[in-house]
Amino acid sequence: MTEINSVTTLTRDGDIAIITLNSPPVNALSAKVREGLFEGFKAAGASDAKAIVLVCEGRTFIAGADISEFGGAMAGPSLFDVQDMMEGSPKPVIAAIHGTALGGGLEVALCAHYRVAVPSARVGLPEVALGLLPGAGGTQRLPRIVGVEAALDMVTSGRHVPAKQALAMGLVDELVEEGKLIEGALAFARKAVAENKPLVKVRDNNEKLDIAKGHPEIFADFRKANARKFRGFMAPENNIKAVEAAVNSANFDEGLKAERTLFGELMMGQQSAAQRYYFFAERQANKIPDVPDDTATRPIKSVGIIGAGTMGGGIAMNFANAGIPVIIVEQEQAPLDRGLGVIRKNYERTASRGGITAEQVEQRTGLITGSLSMEDFKDVDLVIEAVFERMDVKKSIFERLDAICKPGAILATNTSGLNIDEIASVTKRPQDVIGLHFFSPANVMKLLEIVRADHTAKDVIATSMKLAKQIGKVAVLVGVTPGFVGNRILGQRQREAQKLVMEGAMPWDIDRVLYDFGFPMGPFAMSDLAGLDIGWVKEKSNGESIRDVLCEMDRRGQKTGAGYYDYDENRNAKPSPVTEQIINDFIVKSGANPRKISDEEILERCVYPMINEGAKILEEGKAIRPSDVDVVWVNGYGWPVYRGGPMHYGDQVGPDKVLAKMQEFQATMGDTFKPSALLEKLVAEGKKFSDIKA
Ligand code: 3HC
Repeated sequence: MTEINSVTTLTRDGDIAIITLNSPPVNALSAKVREGLFEGFKAAGASDAKAIVLVCEGRTFIAGADISEFGGAMAGPSLFDVQDMMEGSPKPVIAAIHGTALGGGLEVALCAHYRVAVPSARVGLPEVALGLLPGAGGTQRLPRIVGVEAALDMVTSGRHVPAKQALAMGLVDELVEEGKLIEGALAFARKAVAENKPLVKVRDNNEKLDIAKGHPEIFADFRKANARKFRGFMAPENNIKAVEAAVNSANFDEGLKAERTLFGELMMGQQSAAQRYYFFAERQANKIPDVPDDTATRPIKSVGIIGAGTMGGGIAMNFANAGIPVIIVEQEQAPLDRGLGVIRKNYERTASRGGITAEQVEQRTGLITGSLSMEDFKDVDLVIEAVFERMDVKKSIFERLDAICKPGAILATNTSGLNIDEIASVTKRPQDVIGLHFFSPANVMKLLEIVRADHTAKDVIATSMKLAKQIGKVAVLVGVTPGFVGNRILGQRQREAQKLVMEGAMPWDIDRVLYDFGFPMGPFAMSDLAGLDIGWVKEKSNGESIRDVLCEMDRRGQKTGAGYYDYDENRNAKPSPVTEQIINDFIVKSGANPRKISDEEILERCVYPMINEGAKILEEGKAIRPSDVDVVWVNGYGWPVYRGGPMHYGDQVGPDKVLAKMQEFQATMGDTFKPSALLEKLVAEGKKFSDIKA
């Protein structure tokens, strides 16, 4: 065995040279890995070996470029040097893939002459999720193998293609038995030598590109079909342009040059910086400073849920999807039956779209049982209460749970903002009480705010974080504060949106500004979608607010064909003269002087108080780190990931600029704009939110 460097070895199995990479956790293409590959292939090429196998140790093949190196100076051999060395090898090179070959990892594998993989492996070019494109020839080689349409799909979705499908697409040449990767790769190498197989260079194969030449409509149609999905993002368009360049360039090198330019544009831009930041933000959120990774967790083999409404039902589906049995308790048979019926319908709808099989519908619904008695929770490991937001009701439920549940069971509330310490105080086991705040629809939304109360035990936190992963959620640990992190910040935006309307901006102006910023919709369009009558009581309504009047006129949102907006039969929204009149009447009544409000002010008024509130939350220790706030907002509230989240955006704008605006607003409009002490401190010290460590 020759040690090439600290992460690479070169060994022999008869005539075959084996280059083994071992750079945990994911064999990313750091300077050391590139050096190891370059020197390894050089040495193997110069030896008398007849073929070369590249294989990785640990959980995966190369999972991409080392994202943490981006933005810094590039040391040692470049990825292109490595690729040239592999592709130009005078003897067959075989990449042996397990785990994931992603991004630069797949781009390396595409420079091998052949690829073998185990059935559980997956391959993909997920750079788009980092606001990038495959910048090491991926956009040029991929369409040469899979064709232009499939390449467009892969690079703009970033999806991981399972090995079996990769084989059918020609990305992989042979599947080898699970657990026998190296044996399979060696057998393939020997066969290649014995049969004198050609040294296939993907770069030289133009057949699939030629089919697309002279057909610009392929790209135009693709852009059109995906316009909504790609809105606001720069990376999908540059990915498309790079594949277009593969088709239209005179040769591979010219296409590669175009790819370089398009990659550089993205790499230097703010969007990719935000998306790369966000990649690490999500992973950071799993790390709780005083709850080490090795904290023992409690087994969760069964779950009880109180409430079969939209929330309870959605929550139940998460567990059934993960194979965990659930008992849902309601007070009466009718709402219970209705709730179980909705769950079944949801599953059937997914099945009708091909998302799951009919058998899975039965399996999953079979895991969910209904009951009218909380006594049935006596053996469950976790109970989640999901009833309406009334403290007295929640307290009486927790008193009963305390009496019924076995010792060690976790007692969770799905409250979206009530004080969990108060709820825990009625039990004799506050250490077992925690908040699990799901977002609606709970079976779809990724975010889970895990709320730590004063006495919540560390193993209850560790268990909840682990469970969140198991059910496919992105979890963020937050503290008890009204509205927790997400809704507390939302409150700022809602308040300003309402105030702006009374100052002269129309709902559609505000919605347009926030939509253009990148939110899926603005607050008024959102209200129309959700229904203006949520929480509105007809009998108590006395025309005191714009909403009261709209609801009284039966303009209760999309479902009634009108709300803030007017809707046509296809639910297309149009600004409403009726709403405009109602607003103007309110303004006249209030004696206010409406004024023309610029888009810039709308944005600053809605967004800067959110950043300021995030800073207050951090100052109070209710979130662990700024990036956790961002994870909440990107996953739960549609903050555009290409702007990183409110705190990252605050850094991009500059904390000094945010502070100056807050001070200006405070001077003219009062103390709701009072700057957070943390924001003031950061500015005084010339620091950013990203300088704050957990
Ligand atoms: N660079 C640096 N670190 C990386 C990394 C990468 N490409 N991929 C993963 N990591 C780190 C993570 O930050 C994490 O670190 P931590 O333990 O300190 O938090 C650790 O590896 C494990 O990652 P996960 O927690 O995500 O582990 P999973 O097993 O859940 O997932 C994975 C593994 C599917 C490989 C996932 O990490 C992933 O999707 N990684 C990113 C893949 C990617 O985007 N590759 C393209 C990179 S850009 C590129 O290649 C440009 C090229 O075209 C030039």
